[in-house]
Amino acid sequence: MNQATETGGLRKHHLHADPTEQLRQWLENARARGITDPSAMVLATCSPEGRPSARVVLLKSLDESGIVFYTNYESRKAKDLERNPTAALLFFWQSLGRQVRIEGTVTRTNPEETAEYFRTRPLLSQISAWVSRQSEVVSDRETLEREFERAQKRFEGKEVPPPAYWGGYRLRPSMFEFWQGRENRLHDRLRYRREGDHWIIDRLSP
Ligand SMILES: Cc1cc2nc3c(=O)[nH]c(=O)nc-3n(C[C@H](O)[C@H](O)[C@H](O)COP(=O)(O)O)c2cc1C
Repeated sequence: MNQATETGGLRKHHLHADPTEQLRQWLENARARGITDPSAMVLATCSPEGRPSARVVLLKSLDESGIVFYTNYESRKAKDLERNPTAALLFFWQSLGRQVRIEGTVTRTNPEETAEYFRTRPLLSQISAWVSRQSEVVSDRETLEREFERAQKRFEGKEVPPPAYWGGYRLRPSMFEFWQGRENRLHDRLRYRREGDHWIIDRLSP
């Protein structure tokens, strides 16, 4: 399968039939270009009352089962996702003139998968997961640092397990859109939508 050139634009026949593979290729292109944190993506969630919010998270795995990121299950985003498990993801790599939009539904990763990933995190990041009550008000910076030191002592010489309130979400995409910036604002937009067990690709007007 061909890869669209960075200047030549996107044609349907350039694209991989499987959008996960297409995203993998674009992530590799971004990495090869030296883009910092190419796997940083904006995650948009929506409360059941219809209040949207967005923030950056890191993609930690990508395969046919979906796109995984890790977070605190008591954070604002998690509260949204637990009650309204639909979400959108967005990558933007400016120097490549590329954007990828993804929509789908999320489920929690299972505890074994979470623990396996947690073990790969640097020790101090493991400890900070125990300290952060993500999205809650904290009285001051010193309180956080004090709690971090306390947690460091508590886990000294021990393996740090993931806290029960920490883990992953897997977004199962129902839509991908690959956007390539072109001259005269005649940008290329190619959208995949799931139909049964395969994907239909449509070109969208810029
Ligand atoms: C580059 C970058 C990467 C980030 N990665 C994560 C991540 O993987 N997981 C996470 O929970 N927060 C991550 N954050 C912090 C989130 O953007 C956000 O501040 C935090 O998750 C709280 O969001 P919430 O209050 O909407 O739940 C990252 C922020 C940046 C700028």
